[in-house]
Amino acid sequence: MGNKDHNPRGTIASKDFVALADIIETIAKGNFAAVDRLYELPGQDGIGPEVSALAESVGMLLVRIEAGDFHIERAAEVEERLQELNELKNEHLGIAAHDLRNPISAVRNMSQMLVEMDLDDKTREDFLHSIYRVSNQMLALVNDLLDVAVIESGKFELALTKGNLSTLAAERAAVIKPIAHEKGLLVDLSLEGVPDSMFDAARLGQVFDNLLSNAVKFSHPGTSVVISSRLVEDHIEIAVADQGPGIPKDELGNLFSKFEKLSVQPTAGEHSTGLGLSIVKNIIEAHDGSIDVESEIGVGTVLSISLPLRPGS
Ligand SMILES: Nc1ncnc2c1ncn2[C@@H]1O[C@H](COP(=O)(O)OP(=O)(O)OP(=O)(O)O)[C@@H](O)[C@H]1O
Ligand SMILES: [Mg+2]
Repeated sequence: MGNKDHNPRGTIASKDFVALADIIETIAKGNFAAVDRLYELPGQDGIGPEVSALAESVGMLLVRIEAGDFHIERAAEVEERLQELNELKNEHLGIAAHDLRNPISAVRNMSQMLVEMDLDDKTREDFLHSIYRVSNQMLALVNDLLDVAVIESGKFELALTKGNLSTLAAERAAVIKPIAHEKGLLVDLSLEGVPDSMFDAARLGQVFDNLLSNAVKFSHPGTSVVISSRLVEDHIEIAVADQGPGIPKDELGNLFSKFEKLSVQPTAGEHSTGLGLSIVKNIIEAHDGSIDVESEIGVGTVLSISLPLRPGS
């Protein structure tokens, strides 16, 4: 190694390291031509083999950076990522188109029969009810797709008004109750009085609808769904608990991803696209809240929301 000496920064360093540092500093200040001095360094007196090797490596690195080599590699990575995203988008488009095709065919076939065939009154009425039900299903899917588009465009905005979350939860539970009863499930309320708060009522109504409809959709007849609410310090917590099959632990990580249907299937052939919970999570996070899941196989699932209490003016 070379001789030890004091360098200008006041620490002990070998002279050849100081020489190397000076060149790198000159380049760093914008004089790229000084890179040639890195290649001259190894030939100079008193420069040890380690510093010579280091000078050459630094020189090579700087020349490659200057040539834009690393930039080209990063551009290739970005292109690959864009390609992956494009494939994912196509896959999602395929799922959406597939999920819309069945109800559209059903509506088309039933309306064709209504027009062309001499059906008895009972069959006509059944067909009209089915068309109404299936149209609602299509509308819900299209609304979900539009919500995803708005969320991803970053233009998702809340319309905050003062209201009561327990009241809203009771209203939404009342809507799902007849559907649950028809399937042989009970919906119970355990709603505590909570203070009024500022929130987007339409959006949180959508959240409760999603959680309640999931609980009913993935549970078997003879079980209960409970929606509860309570005030915990400065947060309002709302939970929807079911006695359904439970979600396998290794699938929980995908629960809130869009277009992700897990291995748990609807128990009465209900519609499932895998969009609901991804929208729910976005709505809750837009309110600065959080959503958690606890699930046990054979026992049931609880989805809990925590929303900050915003008393408003
Ligand atoms: N309460 C639950 N119990 C068991 N599994 C559930 C429950 N809620 C959701 N899941 C699982 O998570 C998946 C994703 O739920 P999510 O609400 O996002 O989609 P979906 O209900 O299948 O379709 P969509 O809400 O778009 O109609 C479901 O397909 C189901 O496999
Ligand atoms: Mg759902």
